[in-house]
Amino acid sequence: MKTPTRLLVISLLAIAFGTLVLSRAQARSSHYFRPVADPVVKEECGGCHLAFAPSMLPASSWQRMMGNLKNHFGDDASLDAPTATRVSDYLVANAADNAGQRYGDKLLRGVSAKNAPLRITELPKWIKEHRKVPDWEWKHKDVRTRANCTACHVDAETGYYDE
Ligand code: HEC
Ligand code: HEC
Repeated sequence: MKTPTRLLVISLLAIAFGTLVLSRAQARSSHYFRPVADPVVKEECGGCHLAFAPSMLPASSWQRMMGNLKNHFGDDASLDAPTATRVSDYLVANAADNAGQRYGDKLLRGVSAKNAPLRITELPKWIKEHRKVPDWEWKHKDVRTRANCTACHVDAETGYYDE
């Protein structure tokens, strides 16, 4: 390889690498939600659907939800008392208005932390981010429900919600 060509290749590589680092950094800052790290929470809240990131809801929503697991969106998700306490403590500690703040801040825009919905999919910011998703996509057999995040966000388990 002649020197000018080699130089060109090297600088192209540098540019490519630079962009890669940059887009990852952006993903981290705006569309990254730290996934559930507690194995008990993962086990108990990840069996029927994705174990939703605690930073996606404020503490008050998690508390209300954990207070009525028997009527959990039409399902019975009851836990024994010690397990429920452990799960609840984890969700509350990492909620959007506690330790999860730097992840969940944007998603909570426009709602009061004390009076937020129980569903992530009812947060105004969530609805806004998904307004362009056509009706047929929600009804698609591989999606079926808005709560099925992983159908569209293949990296949701690891906390990334880029398309
Ligand atoms: C027995 C099955 C089951 C278990 C266990 C379960 N869930 Fe759910 N969860 C559901 C169903 C069903 C829905 C409603 C899904 C839908 O709308 O399609 C739901 C919905 C949710 C939603 C709202 C999703 C949205 O629309 O934004 C949250 C948040 C949630 N669950 C958290 C939890 C937490 C926290 C736990 C652990 C304590 C848990 N779930 C355990 C069945 C379960
Ligand atoms: C039917 C597919 C679909 C489902 C299901 C879905 N999303 Fe999305 N989501 C999208 C699309 C498409 C975008 C990008 C919208 C845009 O860029 O205009 C998006 C954007 C987002 C964003 C903003 C990041 C970005 O790239 O703009 C977040 C955060 C997000 N979704 C979280 C969730 C969560 C949490 C769930 C489950 C409770 C979920 N999504 C379910 C399709 C989906």
